[in-house]
Amino acid sequence: MEIGQVIGSTTLRGFRFVIKNGMEKNVKRDEFVVVNESVTGNKILGIIKDIIISNELLPDEFGRDLRLGDILLNEGEYPVPTVKVLGYEGSNGLEMPRYGIKPGSSVYLADDDIVKRILRQEEKKAACVGTLSTRESVPVYISVNDLISRHCAILAMTGSGKSYTVGVVIEELLKKKGAVVVFDPHGEYKGISMGNAKTKVYGVKGDSKIKIETSSLRSIDFINLVPDLTEAQRDLIDAVITLARKFYDRYDLNIIKDVMGLIYDAKEGRDILAENISEGDIKELSKRVGLTTIGSTIRKIERLNRLAIFELKGTPIEDIVAGNQLTVIDLSDADERLSETIIAAITRRIFEARKAYVKDGEGRFDVPAFLIVEEAHNFAPRTSEDRKILSRSILKKIAREGRKFGVGLCIVSQRPSRLDADVLSQCNTQIILKIVNPADQEYIRQSVESVTEDIVRDLPSLSRGEAIIAGAATKLPVTVKIRERVTAVGGEDIDVVEQWSRKCPD
Ligand SMILES: Nc1ncnc2c1ncn2[C@@H]1O[C@H](COP(=O)(O)OP(=O)(O)O)[C@@H](O)[C@H]1O
Ligand SMILES: [Mg+2]
Repeated sequence: MEIGQVIGSTTLRGFRFVIKNGMEKNVKRDEFVVVNESVTGNKILGIIKDIIISNELLPDEFGRDLRLGDILLNEGEYPVPTVKVLGYEGSNGLEMPRYGIKPGSSVYLADDDIVKRILRQEEKKAACVGTLSTRESVPVYISVNDLISRHCAILAMTGSGKSYTVGVVIEELLKKKGAVVVFDPHGEYKGISMGNAKTKVYGVKGDSKIKIETSSLRSIDFINLVPDLTEAQRDLIDAVITLARKFYDRYDLNIIKDVMGLIYDAKEGRDILAENISEGDIKELSKRVGLTTIGSTIRKIERLNRLAIFELKGTPIEDIVAGNQLTVIDLSDADERLSETIIAAITRRIFEARKAYVKDGEGRFDVPAFLIVEEAHNFAPRTSEDRKILSRSILKKIAREGRKFGVGLCIVSQRPSRLDADVLSQCNTQIILKIVNPADQEYIRQSVESVTEDIVRDLPSLSRGEAIIAGAATKLPVTVKIRERVTAVGGEDIDVVEQWSRKCPD
């Protein structure tokens, strides 16, 4: 369908055109168009990026004393769409034209077929996340292998549909029998259940608690986990963990506490009955700490022990990562420190087990895993003023090296500018929904290679459930209407007015 003619001067990167009479309704932002290249006649595909409407009867100068009542406004008006050239279909996908486009050339609406061909992914290995926002007739597929092994970021301001989109991605991956783990600070994903796939939920309270192997934590993990430690308490924990490591293959918090008890006894001059641990070490340590420090540290360890999360053995990673299974780590009852520790401990074990399996042929951890971290700016932050965020270093490592070992990372955040730049830039596919905050926009543009100026410019005008997908998993950056979820959606907005009026009926 011919929709207009090229006007003005053109470049190899773009051109403008006038709209043929009556074709206005077909010409909108993000619509695909085709023109013929001069010399070769190649069909060049372009995308409408802007539409400037001017009216020669209403120049800017009229603004001074405007009386529009009598002027027929449509007369003298001409919209001029600006088109960005995407390329012509060559043997290796889109290739950039070399010969230019002649002014006066006809501009056609691109057929669905050509757009589908350009966006095509091998169906068996692709996830359908929605349709083009300009054309419901064109489904948008993204490459699952690229999405996972080259990591992805789902970014948007609150309420624009990040979690909803995560749900769509999870559904698609479960259709592929994926092994997906989601760290869920708001308890939003428990309701997802898909056909034959299994959904497992672990929390920090109640029956299905997540368990972390205590001896997998380093002393810095403990120090981070227990708030308000004094210098002396910190030193004691550090020393006791070092001692436990020396004498036990595996230990739990009871053992840590017992060792502290022995130090206490030694300090008080009692005989100590150390079975596994050397008396000399205990006595040596007891000289360096005060009784009150030991007592108060024991109480803090006891409090931690009451959570019943840090134990001799952790939840087996084979239970957490399994094919055709979504595992939800519900952190809605955990505070920040506990959440960080759990995320760090689990992701570290998954990464190390995969590395051992792939690199050294050790173990049987043969399932590639996709790890989704919601509120990622809290767990992989750019800066952290007061303390070290433990999950950051392992998430950075997975972002950098996970690809080699089949560990994919998906970070989800409403504050992209607070994310660690390395982690963000390693997420090679971006699904970005509405973002208005200029600092967030600018940070994404700077950190992420595939996010260009014109993508950033479009971010504020996206509507809810509309996303720009760019990067590794897609052939072209596209604006997509995310498809509807088939599974239950969690974390819906509360209808406040409805609930108030139910409380106090008329
Ligand atoms: N593509 C979509 N289709 C229909 N509803 C959507 C879509 N995306 C988001 N929503 C709805 O919008 C609201 C906010 O979405 P949510 O995913 O929770 O936002 P975010 O995680 O970015 O804060 C929810 O009620 C959700 O159901
Ligand atoms: Mg959310």
